[in-house]
Amino acid sequence: MPPGNFSPFQAKVIVAYVRSLAEVARADSTNGLASRGEVLFDGKGDCLDCHRIGNSGSRLGPDLTDIGSVRTAAGLERSILEPEAEVLPQNRLIRVIPKSGQPITGRLLNQDTFSVQLIDRDNKLLSVPRSGIKEVMFLESSIMPSYRDKFNMQELQDMVSYLVSLKGIKPQ
Ligand code: HEC
Repeated sequence: MPPGNFSPFQAKVIVAYVRSLAEVARADSTNGLASRGEVLFDGKGDCLDCHRIGNSGSRLGPDLTDIGSVRTAAGLERSILEPEAEVLPQNRLIRVIPKSGQPITGRLLNQDTFSVQLIDRDNKLLSVPRSGIKEVMFLESSIMPSYRDKFNMQELQDMVSYLVSLKGIKPQ
C-alpha cells in the first residue's frame, strides 16, 4: 500500500471500516469451550436458578433453549456483563404490590379482570386476585446480577460459546 496517500479523514474512515469488519467476525466466533460453559451454567453461574434450557431450570427469567439462534456472541457477552444495558420488553419482570403483605416480583404469565398470574422468584405459579392488589408495575431494572467480577475472561468465553451453541432442544 503506498504510504501517505490518505487524508486524516479518509484514514479514520478506513480504520473504522476495518474495525467494523473485525466486530462482525467476532460476533459469531468465540474462543471458549461450550462444554465448560455448560458446567458453569449449572454450577458457579447459578444460571438455572432463573433460566430454563430444555426441561430443566426455572421459568422466572427467559427460556434460553434457542438463545443461540436469536442472539450473537457479542450480544450474549453483553447480557452477561451488563444485564442492565438492554432488557427486552417481553423479558421485563413485574412487581405486584398487595393491599397487605410483601410485594411479589416475578414474570407475568397472564392477567384478566379477576387476577394476575405470575411465576415468582421461587419458580412457583401464583394467581393473585385483583381485589387484593394495590398496584402492578413493570420493573425498570434487571434482577440478573452482572458476572463481570464473578467470571474470569476464559469463563466468560466458555459461557458465551455454550449459549451460542443453544439452538433448540437437543435430539435425545
Ligand atoms: C436472579 C436471576 C438470574 C440469574 C441468576 C441469571 N439471570 Fe439471566 N436474566 C434474568 C432475567 C430476569 C432476564 C430478563 C431480562 C433482564 O432482566 O435482564 C435475564 C436475561 C438474560 C439473557 C438475555 C435473554 C434474551 O432473551 O436476550 C441472557 C443471555 C442471560 N440472562 C444469561 C444468563 C446466564 C448465562 C446466567 C448465568 C451465568 C444468568 N443469565 C443468570 C435473570 C437471571
